[in-house]
Amino acid sequence: MSEDLIKKIRELKKKREAIILAHNYQLPEVQEIADITGDSLELSRAAARTEAKVIVFCGVHFMAETAKVLSSAKTVLLPDEQAGCPMADMITREQLLEFKSAHPGIPVVAYVNTSAEVKAESDICCTSANAVRVVESLESREILFVPDKSLAAYVASKTSKTIIPYCGYCPTHHRILASDVLRAKREHPEALVIAHPECTMDVISLADAVESTSGMLRFVAASQAKEFIICTERGLLYRLKKENPNKVFYNPSPVNVCPNMKKINLEKILWSLEDMQPAIELPEDVITRARCAIERMIAL
Ligand code: 13P
Ligand code: SF4
Repeated sequence: MSEDLIKKIRELKKKREAIILAHNYQLPEVQEIADITGDSLELSRAAARTEAKVIVFCGVHFMAETAKVLSSAKTVLLPDEQAGCPMADMITREQLLEFKSAHPGIPVVAYVNTSAEVKAESDICCTSANAVRVVESLESREILFVPDKSLAAYVASKTSKTIIPYCGYCPTHHRILASDVLRAKREHPEALVIAHPECTMDVISLADAVESTSGMLRFVAASQAKEFIICTERGLLYRLKKENPNKVFYNPSPVNVCPNMKKINLEKILWSLEDMQPAIELPEDVITRARCAIERMIAL
């Protein structure tokens, strides 16, 4: 059955001149059919430079919007339009405008986990891979950082600038508790702890390295260590195990699943290529203004 589906997706992908991009948290079968699998930064770069006519984005809504902003002439498909990001939904354009008017004249760094409308009101975007560098690149001593208070706290610990955080957070990463990590460390004393900066500072303070999802893949590949406790959404373990068959990975939490990242499957990818729906549509002025913030980040 799935062989049949895979064959049909490949045929239709060719006919539509499409490329399939998948985030590192996607289901294994979705990662396998993708042309490129990566973190938010790698996928934005891939979306900006691809020559394909159609981008099938296997991730969540803000990621597909970012692809549309960077490649507005292309059709960008999100195979399940219900795949949103609860953290991105924690700040609307109106809430950002209020936040800005409470802190006039201070530049806004928007994590890519925001809607295109929020990006359009921001000065520059960042991802978990480059947040510290983006903040350091700005002249201002004070920075408004939206929406992730955990990433903001991590960045604040790495810079002398004053970071004024918004109050959003990732429910999936916040489910990973320091007590989970301490237990995993007791059970596997040789293992290194790698944490995503969306985790709480309690978890980050226990980590040997803090990395984006693709940063974790690079860290593990380069490390002499053989065992790792991975503090992020558990979907990353698939690629970690596949690319490092001689290393051992421990998932510290029983509940670190992002349900939105699991909404896309092979059937939905096929249907989206058949119907060319659900396609991301954005107003022209939002595209133009959001593109400035994203391109400033990519230029760094
Ligand atoms: P990265 O893959 O950029 O580290 O992002 C993690 C994430 O939570 C995306 O929603
Ligand atoms: Fe959003 Fe967190 Fe899911 Fe990433 S893992 S899509 S930040 S809810």
